[in-house]
Amino acid sequence: MADDGLRASAVSGGGTAAPTFLEDVWYCLGPGARLKRERMQGLMLAGQPVLLGRDRDGSAFALRDLCPHRGAPLSCGVFDGREIECCYHGWRFGTDGRCTHIPSLLDDHGVSVERIRTPAWPVREAHGLIWVYLGKDTPDHEPPDIPGFAASARPSLLMEMTFDCPVDHAVIGLLDPAHTPNVHRSWFWRSGRNLKQKAKRFGPSELGFTMLRHTPSTKSVAYGILGGQPETEIVFRLPGLRLEEIRIGRHRVCGLTAISPIDADSARVVHAIWWTIPWLTLLKPVLRVFAHQFLDQDRRMAAIQKRGLRFNPSLMLIRDADTQGRWYYQLKAERQRSRAAGRPFENPVRETTLRWRT
Ligand code: FES
Ligand SMILES: [Fe+2]
Repeated sequence: MADDGLRASAVSGGGTAAPTFLEDVWYCLGPGARLKRERMQGLMLAGQPVLLGRDRDGSAFALRDLCPHRGAPLSCGVFDGREIECCYHGWRFGTDGRCTHIPSLLDDHGVSVERIRTPAWPVREAHGLIWVYLGKDTPDHEPPDIPGFAASARPSLLMEMTFDCPVDHAVIGLLDPAHTPNVHRSWFWRSGRNLKQKAKRFGPSELGFTMLRHTPSTKSVAYGILGGQPETEIVFRLPGLRLEEIRIGRHRVCGLTAISPIDADSARVVHAIWWTIPWLTLLKPVLRVFAHQFLDQDRRMAAIQKRGLRFNPSLMLIRDADTQGRWYYQLKAERQRSRAAGRPFENPVRETTLRWRT
């Protein structure tokens, strides 16, 4: 690519181009506590119908939400905590997706019931979140760790939103530092005036890149109220995960934003925050309002952008503010190519400093 920093051939406007969703990655489906024992729910993930359930013993599972007989959604059937019974002809399935019983069969029909199955996907639950690995093979990596917090630690604050835009644009919006002065104008955050030059050091990390540990501007109110000398590190990882870790003395605040595609036109955004600062818990109702307002500003912007994307315009990713967005497309393409070729993933990101004005 010419180094004019302007061309972005990989970017589709999201109009007519068929979406490509990443497989073989962990997608976050929100809080595990929402899924009660012996219950199941149907949802969409990356254009696939997914049945998410929790068995009698408390283990979560995920199946393709289509009966292999004649396609009825299994989530419309009945679940007794052990088996799911399809609502149409009563075929029964274990939580591993294997068929266990076909009511209409006679013994001499010679059908191997146990060979009939609907695909099952690996599920993990950690840090209060539920993750599904959409892939055909055994996972080659695990969902992200939340540094400094036990796997049993639930988020102190959690919110979810649906963004009415293609997933790639939701992810790039997450990585885009240049929209902040326009989109996140707010009395508690910043006014949108007084743009400052920023320089941040980045390096490659697992399936993504990291804005290396640094001392952020304590002028922003959000950091300022935490006191002490904050240090922050921001990790991005496929498919659309941004993990920010702030250390203030012995305390930590970790924020995870996890974006996953619902279908070609919408994305699920889960935003979770963990903290060790006791007095922050007292401020939770206020923080919830601010966090919701912040995320909703992005949601509204994505919906506005989609009105233009309908016309499938060619788009630009300019240096350096859009370099993270460019890396996202490169990482995604490399993940797909390396999986297809059965070779190790080669991270396209090199250590560098990016500079922009925000
Ligand atoms: S469609 Fe499910 S049992 Fe027939
Ligand atoms: Fe934003």
